[in-house]
Amino acid sequence: MPKQRVSKAVFPAAGLGTRFLPATKASPKEMLPIVDKPMIQYAVEEAESCNIKEFIVITGKSKRAIEDHFDISWQLEENLKSKGKHAILDEIQKLSEHQFAYIRQGLPLGLGHAILCSKPFVKDEPFAVILSDDIIDPEDHLLRDMIKIHNKYQATVLALEKVPKEEIHRYGVVAGKEVGKNLFKINDMVEKPTASSAPSDMAIIGRYILTPDIFGIIEKTKPGKGGEIQLTDAIKTLMKKRPVYGYLFRGKRYDGGDKLGYLKATVELALKNPGVKTEFKKYLSTRISSLIEKEK
Ligand code: UTP
Repeated sequence: MPKQRVSKAVFPAAGLGTRFLPATKASPKEMLPIVDKPMIQYAVEEAESCNIKEFIVITGKSKRAIEDHFDISWQLEENLKSKGKHAILDEIQKLSEHQFAYIRQGLPLGLGHAILCSKPFVKDEPFAVILSDDIIDPEDHLLRDMIKIHNKYQATVLALEKVPKEEIHRYGVVAGKEVGKNLFKINDMVEKPTASSAPSDMAIIGRYILTPDIFGIIEKTKPGKGGEIQLTDAIKTLMKKRPVYGYLFRGKRYDGGDKLGYLKATVELALKNPGVKTEFKKYLSTRISSLIEKEK
């Protein structure tokens, strides 16, 4: 079979975002800003940096703002032009340069089901899946490294991270044999295990390179944990037929779907943002000094 390049990315964004209510009641979680960009824009830029050209967003109720964000905004552009705000105008125009497709999931039946919705657009190609609420520091190149592994093995690649015992029950957890630097051939996978039943401390995080044979498997996958069609259950079935690899990420990731993770991402990315970093650092230092003082 000829080698296939990863040129499409799927962004599942149809979840209800219950951990972030009430903010996510009428607005998409993916549109929550980190400094000056919504979370999904960081995810799209990450895909772009890997030469991915087609973006497929799985949306649901109250998610229309995502489509508007990546669409042409003629009125806004004219306004910025007339005021001579060219730098921000360029940035705004770049947002609508790419090819986006939107698919409504209808009911949030689970991540596996959300990915199945992308089948008519992905067709018969390998593709990336990016959960935009898992924010990867733009200085780390997780997706790029995963695509390299996929190109070598022409197989499914999952992103892994070591997580503390107390948090393991929130993740899909794998076990595997180390076959290269930070690279594992996976032989077991459990969705949201208890700390004592987890097969290791390596959890699956929100980046995947999938092969198109996953669609047929998801179609036959019954609802699992939480009554949802779980992607991990489908990958577990796939694993019986062909190798699945896990790449252990050692960089920085923030869970932007969780309040604390979101705040940490905001602080870290603000400390790197050229427009605010100097003043923000000053503010943080003063604030922390006063907190320490109060605790004495
Ligand atoms: P989460 O487990 O984070 O669920 O989904 P959620 O609904 O977004 O947030 P909480 O847990 O209720 O706060 C992981 C990813 O899968 C997508 C979500 O949008 C998120 O990117 N997803 C989940 C779907 O697209 N459809 C689903 O049916 C479920």
